[in-house]
Amino acid sequence: MIDLRGAVVVVTGARGAIGSVIARRFAEQGAIVAGLDLAATDTGAVPIRACDVSDPEQARAAINAVVAEHGRLDVLVNNAGINVTGAVEDLDPGAWDQCFAVNTRGVFVMCQAAIATMKSQRSGRIINAASFAATIPSVGAAAYAASKAAVVQFTRVLAGELGPWNVTANCYAPGMIPSAMNGFAALPAAEQEELLDTLTLRRWGTAEEVADAVCYLASDLARYTTGTVLDVSGGKFATQRPQAAYRAVGEREEC
Ligand SMILES: NC(=O)c1ccc[n+]([C@@H]2O[C@H](COP(=O)([O-])OP(=O)(O)OC[C@H]3O[C@@H](n4cnc5c(N)ncnc54)[C@H](O)[C@@H]3O)[C@@H](O)[C@H]2O)c1
Repeated sequence: MIDLRGAVVVVTGARGAIGSVIARRFAEQGAIVAGLDLAATDTGAVPIRACDVSDPEQARAAINAVVAEHGRLDVLVNNAGINVTGAVEDLDPGAWDQCFAVNTRGVFVMCQAAIATMKSQRSGRIINAASFAATIPSVGAAAYAASKAAVVQFTRVLAGELGPWNVTANCYAPGMIPSAMNGFAALPAAEQEELLDTLTLRRWGTAEEVADAVCYLASDLARYTTGTVLDVSGGKFATQRPQAAYRAVGEREEC
């Protein structure tokens, strides 16, 4: 049973497609949730404070404010991220830096800000957004894929460093969840089919499915799991050609 009642949770990128649902899911399960994003809002289910995670001072101030208000910090979900695309030959080094500033340094500085509190509690959960792109990148995604692969290795090292304090650090790796960031749903139909053909479950994922995985990692059920990447991709990595199974089923007219 997932029980998050009373847990103090910070979710970054909490206005986004996945982050807003993660924040809401935690709140629905009784957690005290502080959302962070580039702009503040107090109109949704979860109040969101302004914090640019690429700025170490803002990151520290945001975590300190939550700890000052609630006396502890149980879960940090580093969900904020940006997508930067462009062939290596043409990629603007400034865009590369910005991608790493948010996706990788943002995770690092938020974790750094949270460590002392979690160590003093002898408990805590750090949950970082990786991506399927950290394992199997797309052409034109060098900056994004490298930034997410770095998050995976960073998280493993962090898990090692925080093990003695009973603080876990894991990644979640969403697969293909249509959002403004990736525009999957706006692609031409043939391209959508091509992408879906790479997925064992052969459908887009939902933000709710990612949020459920994040809540699991935050819960007591995952107390013996650290330094891992939880793949939430509908089986992107299960087999090379999952569409073969669909074809075989179709030929036998089973569906
Ligand atoms: N959607 C997918 O299919 C998918 C796949 C793999 C990984 N991811 C990862 O999941 C996370 C959420 O993605 P999403 O699809 O919801 O994207 P999104 O663009 O809908 O949301 C990202 C949020 O992060 C915020 N943000 C950007 N820069 C920030 C900064 N400097 N400081 C604070 N907040 C900042 C944005 O304002 C936005 O609200 C990202 O880390 C993304 O890389 C998504």
